[in-house]
Amino acid sequence: MRVLLFTGKGGVGKTTASAATAAAAAARGSKVLVLSTDPAHSLGDALGVPLGATPTEVDTGLYAMQVDAQRAFERSWREIQSYLSSMLERAGVDALQAEELTVLPGAEEVLALLEVTRQATSGPWDLVVVDCAPTGETLRLLALPEALTWYVERVFPAQRRALRAVRPLLSRVSGPAVPREDVFDAVERLHRELLQVRAVLTAPTTSVRLVLTPEAVVVAEARRTLTSLALYGYRVDGLLANRVFPQSQDPFLAGWAAAQAAQLEAVRADAGGLPLLVSPYRADEPVGLAALTEVGRQLYGEADPAPVPQDLPDLLDVRPSSDGFELTMTLPLARREDLELTRTGDELAITVAGHRRVLALPSALRRCTVADATLRSGRLVVRFEPDPDLWMRS
Ligand SMILES: Nc1ncnc2c1ncn2[C@@H]1O[C@H](COP(=O)(O)OP(=O)(O)OP(=O)(O)O)[C@@H](O)[C@H]1O
Ligand SMILES: [Mg+2]
Repeated sequence: MRVLLFTGKGGVGKTTASAATAAAAAARGSKVLVLSTDPAHSLGDALGVPLGATPTEVDTGLYAMQVDAQRAFERSWREIQSYLSSMLERAGVDALQAEELTVLPGAEEVLALLEVTRQATSGPWDLVVVDCAPTGETLRLLALPEALTWYVERVFPAQRRALRAVRPLLSRVSGPAVPREDVFDAVERLHRELLQVRAVLTAPTTSVRLVLTPEAVVVAEARRTLTSLALYGYRVDGLLANRVFPQSQDPFLAGWAAAQAAQLEAVRADAGGLPLLVSPYRADEPVGLAALTEVGRQLYGEADPAPVPQDLPDLLDVRPSSDGFELTMTLPLARREDLELTRTGDELAITVAGHRRVLALPSALRRCTVADATLRSGRLVVRFEPDPDLWMRS
């Protein structure tokens, strides 16, 4: 099952690109579902069809749906969330861990992810296209399974064991601070589901396409998004530049066209060979199936709009070197000033423009010290050297 996610800054054309791509794939005979996580119902508006929480057939082979956050889920999610943060406060967790948990997204995003996974694993689709929320939320959403894994594996078991031991005492003086067993169960269930979500999102048949408009501010954000996506281990298979002005004699339009051309040139130069699709600025809003199909044709021509990505570099790699080990991470378009590394015990935290990934180090690396780190042509290389003290101890 092929899964394609569209993300990008607010208003750049994610919904339009998702619908146009889905229409183009359906026109070639695929069975396609386009799914929106936007509570504003804009996918239905773009297609000109009211959508519900189950797939609606919009055209031959083309289905669309709108994920709606159900109240019940929202309640239990809020309960989990408030429990996690109150527990953290009481446990006096350090800043790094607390920050890790503040990236938990809202119920809509979590629910959307679960629905994407359900459709991708058991739906009849050849292709599932996901119209994601704007950049910030999407990144948080993509980080969630890992953040929760970290939490469930490290903090949770000890907490739960400790609580089991003291519960008989506590229940007599029960106060709001004592988490109920069902909260634990809910967190564990959610964690299991999110592991499936992560499996779907990081599968070789899943990729992310980043939509941008060729303007300095948008391009700057797209850069950071691209680096952060790589950081979390998601495959980006291309960039889509939308609302590109045509060449014109009119001085106003010519000015815009020239400024955009310069931005596009910079994006092309730094994209490290990622394909760049271009969608022209249209004279009217591309609303309705006919207009979206036309946008799809302009984008992809007769080509497959969603081929399985090939030959993408390994995102994370650890191998022995002459004097220790080298951990390499592919971070396209990363800038040195946006990058931060922190080693805490057996974990290495890598932060890019506010997004953090905590890597649990393999045992060989745990007994090493970080010698240095370099960033060269989109690759971060961290050198580890054996620490004699640590090797002696065990
Ligand atoms: N190439 C284009 N030419 C002209 N208008 C466009 C083009 N692409 C998108 N639009 C219009 O721009 C507006 C924003 O597009 P769209 O809703 O696809 O953006 P979005 O990234 O999904 O926004 P949001 O972040 O709010 O979800 C819509 O009115 C859409 O019809
Ligand atoms: Mg949208």
